[in-house]
Amino acid sequence: MITQVIAHRGSKGLRPENTLPAFSKAIEAGADGIETDVHLSKDGELIIIHDETVNRTTNGTGRVYDMTLKELKELDAGSYFGLNYLGTRIPTLQEVVHLLIESHYTGVFNLEFKTDKFGYPGLEEKVANYFDSIDYPFHLVYSSFNPKSIKKIHAIQPTIETASLFKLRTASAKRFAKKNVIQDWHPSIAWVRSHRWFLPRMEIRPWTVNSEDNMEFCFKHHFKGIITDFPERGLSIRKSIQG
Ligand code: G3P
Ligand code: MG
Repeated sequence: MITQVIAHRGSKGLRPENTLPAFSKAIEAGADGIETDVHLSKDGELIIIHDETVNRTTNGTGRVYDMTLKELKELDAGSYFGLNYLGTRIPTLQEVVHLLIESHYTGVFNLEFKTDKFGYPGLEEKVANYFDSIDYPFHLVYSSFNPKSIKKIHAIQPTIETASLFKLRTASAKRFAKKNVIQDWHPSIAWVRSHRWFLPRMEIRPWTVNSEDNMEFCFKHHFKGIITDFPERGLSIRKSIQG
């Protein structure tokens, strides 16, 4: 199996994370996949950002769920990374998907429901309705740390590939695997390196695999994928190991 190289929050190592420049960069690098995170705004829009607040990655403060799309769009989501990216905006899920469609992107699009701190009412339903309403050329994969989100999305769209995310606790991932609710595990690379990951025989895509050593380990074991901030590095190391 050729291991998929999936760009974490877009090409997070080289561009402001979870922004259109980060996703364009991942496509340009030839990444096999793109991972991103979705939240809900106050007015029910699907917002692409990692944290529950805008504090770390924008020039504003506050919770995403307390702000409207208009308020979120006024923020600068690029300058925290570098002044070259001043004026970059927080994208909506629809804007990211349009970019992928315009780019004829056929890789994996891994959408993570960012519900680990708290659930957003109706988030999973909104995402499912959106993807049901459009044609898209990429391979959609859902993931979440929150078992409730996994359960919900699987009940609505049972045919979409779904993965459990975890750092340490495997109980719900094991339960879901047994019931065929999920197809893959997305564990932390630390868990993979310190556990007998091969026992469950699940397909795995660890995160965040940035060091050469961790990349080599994953490619040598032919994991299904790696999620990395540096897809260029991943592709080049993969070539030297898997051809
Ligand atoms: O989906 C893999 C990875 O993104 C999970 O952690 O915190 O970067 O969303 P986080
Ligand atoms: Mg994520």
